[in-house]
Amino acid sequence: MTKKIILTGDRPTGKLHLGHYVGSLQNRVKLQDEKDTEMFIMIADQQALTDNADNPKKIIENVTEVALDYLAVGIDPSKTTIFIQSQIPQLAELTMYYMNLVSLARLQRNPTVKQELSSKNFGESVPTGFLTYPISQAADITAFAATHVPVGEDQKPMLEQTREIVRDFNRIYNKEVLVLPEIVLPPKNQGRLMGIDGNGKMSKSLNNGIYLADSPEEIKAKIMKMYTDPNHIRVEDPGQVEGNVVFTYLDIFDANKEEVAALKEDYTRGGLGDVKLKLRLNDIMQDLLAPIRKRREEFAKDRDLVYKMLQEASQKAEKIAAKTLEEVKDAMGINYFK
Ligand code: TRP
Repeated sequence: MTKKIILTGDRPTGKLHLGHYVGSLQNRVKLQDEKDTEMFIMIADQQALTDNADNPKKIIENVTEVALDYLAVGIDPSKTTIFIQSQIPQLAELTMYYMNLVSLARLQRNPTVKQELSSKNFGESVPTGFLTYPISQAADITAFAATHVPVGEDQKPMLEQTREIVRDFNRIYNKEVLVLPEIVLPPKNQGRLMGIDGNGKMSKSLNNGIYLADSPEEIKAKIMKMYTDPNHIRVEDPGQVEGNVVFTYLDIFDANKEEVAALKEDYTRGGLGDVKLKLRLNDIMQDLLAPIRKRREEFAKDRDLVYKMLQEASQKAEKIAAKTLEEVKDAMGINYFK
């Protein structure tokens, strides 16, 4: 049986939240125990720097925070290679060769990049590194010969770009050097979690998140101000379940589906107050997040150990990337001194 090679990663621009947990982290913890599977998780500091060149401190600090979040949820460095992108110089070298295979027009057509460009208001002064990050992402994926890339819907254009580069490279240099990766999207109902304000997805920029590192008090405060039904003013009023963040979360996190169904009926009929529901959700979330926070605090006490783990994994990752780079240069015929 051929081995499954999984590669995924996150930009270290902030701590990870419940949306990351539901949408991807939980799944990664499962994947690391699958048979005939090797998993790489990359902290994409170089990619984060493409639009944070003037604020490297933020990225550097969040490399550690993201690593702590991974360890806290149970990603196990003895099973999964957790490495830092900037420590693998071969990725930059691969990017250099792949750049010759991608036109400027093609980069400008990338829907995710397009959307980011407009939300960041770069105008004409978009950094070249930012525009080309999909090419460097192709280097990340192909360096490890990844067969599967579990990411969110927004990363579809990146995978398409990678697949084009793989096909073009293998055709031009007449060898099956690069592996064609598959995107693995989260199941429909597990896409990304709604933010506490009910305004779309949980995200750092919308400031509507519950973080894995939040204290019990912060978690409770956020739940108590969750968006429910603005027309549900008195307890006796009939309430709406649809779009109600508390019910959205109960559907995901409450194991007792029958009770949730009964609560929905009561709420719709009228007579069930928001506070009661929120306290129920709070109990569930505290139970879920307490062990994660505890593990996070434990690891945070020994940051040297976390760095040692990242360093060892980065060294291992570098060896693999170096092998791919050799094959790429062989195929291109530019290994002059061999
Ligand atoms: N672009 C991804 C994000 O913003 C991070 C990332 C960088 C990545 N390189 C990757 C994800 C390679 C998967 C594979 O979340």
